[in-house]
Amino acid sequence: MKYPFHVEHTEVSRLSSVDFSNLQFGKLYGDHMFVAECRKGKWTDCRIIPFGNLPFSPASSALHYGQIIFEGMKAFKNAERNALLFRPEMNFKRFNISAQRMAMPEVPLDLWLDSLHELVHMDQEWIPKEQGCSLYLRPFMFAMDRFIGVRPTEFFKFLIITSPAGLYYPKPVKVMTTAKYVRAFEGGVGFAKAAGNYGASMLPLREAIEKGFEQILWTDGNEHKYIQEIGTMNVFFVIDGVAITPELDGTILDGVTRDSVIQLLKHHGTKVEERKISIDEVFDAHQKGILQDAFGTGTAASISTISHIEHKGNMIALPPVNEIPFSVKLKDELEGIKSGALPDIFNWMVKVQSKLLVEAE
Ligand SMILES: Cc1ncc(COP(=O)(O)O)c(C=O)c1O
Repeated sequence: MKYPFHVEHTEVSRLSSVDFSNLQFGKLYGDHMFVAECRKGKWTDCRIIPFGNLPFSPASSALHYGQIIFEGMKAFKNAERNALLFRPEMNFKRFNISAQRMAMPEVPLDLWLDSLHELVHMDQEWIPKEQGCSLYLRPFMFAMDRFIGVRPTEFFKFLIITSPAGLYYPKPVKVMTTAKYVRAFEGGVGFAKAAGNYGASMLPLREAIEKGFEQILWTDGNEHKYIQEIGTMNVFFVIDGVAITPELDGTILDGVTRDSVIQLLKHHGTKVEERKISIDEVFDAHQKGILQDAFGTGTAASISTISHIEHKGNMIALPPVNEIPFSVKLKDELEGIKSGALPDIFNWMVKVQSKLLVEAE
């Protein structure tokens, strides 16, 4: 291995205490985690160690200025009990795009893949077998310089933690627009998976939840006219047989699920348009009876049907789930590919393999 790993096994596994039949999202963590450091551009000290708290200085710059980026991925098990990763190089590319924007070091591909493979291999018994469940993987990096002046930093920690997870949105979601807040402007950090994007969305999200919605459907900051994305997902609308999703204009995340859904839709002969779509176009289509479906796409959320959209006090209800032609079928197909139940026609799945195990033999 290009980056040597030190491995320390947990003394007592917590696995037997997990109720896999009742998993919620983001509440439990696997036995081990991966930790590495980057000092002045050099990656060192790669370790797989028991999951636990980290000691660091209260002056660490990430705590003050938010130089923190992350990814969200999932590991699955197929019928042969092989652990599988879904398109890990897509997350690698996006992580480094986020790193670049936040003046952080890029993670080398070898380090990215080796850390994921070794960690998932070690904690593979944590991958749930239950339908719709998976092992959520959270790679993240933050600035560690012990300095509270504002300047680009030189010392970073990169970690991966894992979490056995059920469905993020167990039922169709209600979303609302807001003209009070903006998620991202061109030239900002909307395309990066930077922690601050999510921190800034907490107040709007809390207000939306208090009104009975699951999420905000973000619109552009100039006119609040064009749809961007949902707080945790990219968004698609099916109008008169055409699937429309906002183009990648620098304000939204280049979602791995978005890309996969576009490929699946095209494979089935559905026309896909990546372009500006206004909230008025969606409401007009609903009035004309040609808005067939609306759904969000994301790793945690998979494909979530949208049941209601509110805009400027007007609410539209989408057709009931059993009449929906696209999102439910797409979700079954995508989840089927991920779990190995359906053929992997796009070669998206990567079998987890341990180089450490091979080296030890
Ligand atoms: C803001 C936002 N947009 C889109 C997505 C979907 O991206 P992906 O499909 O890569 O998970 C996510 C989830 O990670 C997200 O947080």
